[in-house]
Amino acid sequence: MTTPKAPSRQPQTAAEGHHGWDEYAPFYDWENARTFGRRDVPFWQRLAASRGGPVLELGAGTGRVTAPLAKAVSARVVGIDRSAAMLARGRARLRRARARNVSLVRGDIRHLPFASGAFDTVIAPYGILQSLLRDRDLKATLSAVAAVLPRGGVFGLELVADLPDWRDYQRRVSLKGRRGRSGRPITLLESVRQDRRRGLTFFDQEFVEGRGRTAVRRQFTLTFRTVSVRRMARRLEAAGFEVTAMLGDYQGGPWDARAEVWILLARKC
Ligand SMILES: C[S@@+](CC[C@H](N)C(=O)[O-])C[C@H]1O[C@@H](n2cnc3c(N)ncnc32)[C@H](O)[C@@H]1O
Repeated sequence: MTTPKAPSRQPQTAAEGHHGWDEYAPFYDWENARTFGRRDVPFWQRLAASRGGPVLELGAGTGRVTAPLAKAVSARVVGIDRSAAMLARGRARLRRARARNVSLVRGDIRHLPFASGAFDTVIAPYGILQSLLRDRDLKATLSAVAAVLPRGGVFGLELVADLPDWRDYQRRVSLKGRRGRSGRPITLLESVRQDRRRGLTFFDQEFVEGRGRTAVRRQFTLTFRTVSVRRMARRLEAAGFEVTAMLGDYQGGPWDARAEVWILLARKC
């Protein structure tokens, strides 16, 4: 492979946390299968099955959680996401899974396009709420979630715990392998930047697919905000929820400051 050229200068800030996902979509499942995988899926399946009513998943993306969730429950499952490219992959995954009780909707989680009290349970897996880069975005989303739940409805969310632990680095080869039926070689070059004052972590990603002159490069930035468990609990309470559990693993163990998994469950008051 030729030496990849330096990427063009990345912006120091991203205006919105939903930027970058369309560009990431072709690579998301490939990367995810080699990193986070499906370790959280049984937790969301158990939560939804224990509730019984319709479920809304925020930031459903490529359907990594949505498809197995729909298989595990008989109730209606709806996933919402802003990225058309992520949703296209999600729809293909749902077709392959032959899941009939599920649909994907394009929309923004800050303005949920559903009737009041339409869902019994809302879930926000894998740090989706950390794509909301400003407090007002989080506030808008929590009040939109409260509106689509009836009194007693449950909201479960996971925060990605380790965002502030990432150290800045430049263009590190963070994954290498082959992708697709053709088995084209693919390399992920990643840079990480922290804006500790604003609590933002930027992942500048460059996927290089193929070799030599025909190699195709795609560059984009994903931005996430650190939100502590305690701050999220306060925001939930302000939005009209009672926090019923803070969990530190996917088996339901209690949260503490060293936990690697941060899950909150809340009931709408
Ligand atoms: C980490 S991915 C999670 C996808 C999927 N839930 C999973 O666990 O694999 C985050 C998803 O949230 C979506 N997203 C980010 N901000 C959003 C917003 N404001 N409204 C709707 N979707 C958003 C992105 O398009 C992306 O698909």
